[in-house]
Amino acid sequence: MLDRLEPQSPDALLALIKLHAADPRDDKIDLGVGVYRTEDGATPVFEAVKAAEQRLVEEQDSKSYLGPEGDTGFVNALMPWIFGENATMGGRIAGMQTPGGTGAVRLAAALAQKAGMARLHMGTPSWPNHAQILADLGLELAPFDHARADGTADLDAVLGAIRGSRADEGVLLHGCCHNPTGIDYAPEEWEAIAEAFEASGAFPIIDTAYQGLGQGLEEDAKGLRTVLARVPEAFIAYSCDKNFGMYRDRVGAFYILADGRTTLDTAFSNANALARASWSMPPDHGAAAVRLILRDTDLTQAWQDELDEMRARMRQVRDRLAEAGMAGSVDLSPLGAQNGLFSVLPVTSEQVAALREDHAIYMAGSGRINVAGLSMDNIDRFIDALAEVTR
Ligand SMILES: Cc1ncc(COP(=O)(O)O)c(C=O)c1O
Repeated sequence: MLDRLEPQSPDALLALIKLHAADPRDDKIDLGVGVYRTEDGATPVFEAVKAAEQRLVEEQDSKSYLGPEGDTGFVNALMPWIFGENATMGGRIAGMQTPGGTGAVRLAAALAQKAGMARLHMGTPSWPNHAQILADLGLELAPFDHARADGTADLDAVLGAIRGSRADEGVLLHGCCHNPTGIDYAPEEWEAIAEAFEASGAFPIIDTAYQGLGQGLEEDAKGLRTVLARVPEAFIAYSCDKNFGMYRDRVGAFYILADGRTTLDTAFSNANALARASWSMPPDHGAAAVRLILRDTDLTQAWQDELDEMRARMRQVRDRLAEAGMAGSVDLSPLGAQNGLFSVLPVTSEQVAALREDHAIYMAGSGRINVAGLSMDNIDRFIDALAEVTR
């Protein structure tokens, strides 16, 4: 039976990790992997997470099953951070824990499909797993170009996709810090987006994986809240894996907005059934640690301080890149106005290969870079190498 399977190409980024690990050059630079790094290249466990984990070891008295919705204390504690003061929007939002943001995106797409969504519009490029998840489910993807060549948003294209969608179609947007383009919309652009959703009746699916890594925890949630205030129904996929540095612990949540209690309960029961049939229950540990952090003012403060530090470092790197202006044929100035871990450089695959082979600089073939892979020590070398290979 297994002979019938076609070999699948390995994940390009995971292959890049292996190449980078095998490179003996001391001054190698990794701009490929999607994790935050300190100035020293480390991806440490947050102090607040360590403290919460310690507390878990001491206080957890059972590892008995929870249920497909996971740790509801975690799900609820997160809500004011995402949705604001009126965290349930008057009882219109319900959520469940998922295995990472990936699980939440998967659940959003599967539930939308079950509810009869005909197709999902999505600006490309996007996080590659979005398209993979849709393909795996057999849900039609309608892609549109959402970024201009100069690294800014093509808002007309976004609004066109929303306005052109029927009520049985969805549009997937990134809540903040777009992966891979680093694009964020201004408040007035979010207003226009919300208005377009309201007018067309298209179903919003908002994927927020980097809250707090762009402009700030509150600022990064504004766009999502603007849309939710104007629409009857929406799905939100959320990841704590970046903003709590929990990556491998797989901490995520999926939220449903509906315009009535019965609809919400029915949608939630379907999400519950899909989760049960997929992973049964999400892993507990990371979500329990996040719950402990968010219920303790000192730990919450420590978490926010560390997040502020991460954001400030990425801003410093972005400012330095933007200041450099042109590096060969690549204009780095747009990177200063972008947010989060990622940006895309207009480089060819040959130039990406030359950076890797001649300069030990590793980045995705698409030209995506993780700005947190740069430090004040290696940034000039990166800019010079980029100038050399693109001249
Ligand atoms: C846009 C986007 N959504 C979702 C995810 C999934 O995150 P997680 O690691 O929590 O599954 C990522 C991770 O890279 C992402 O970039």
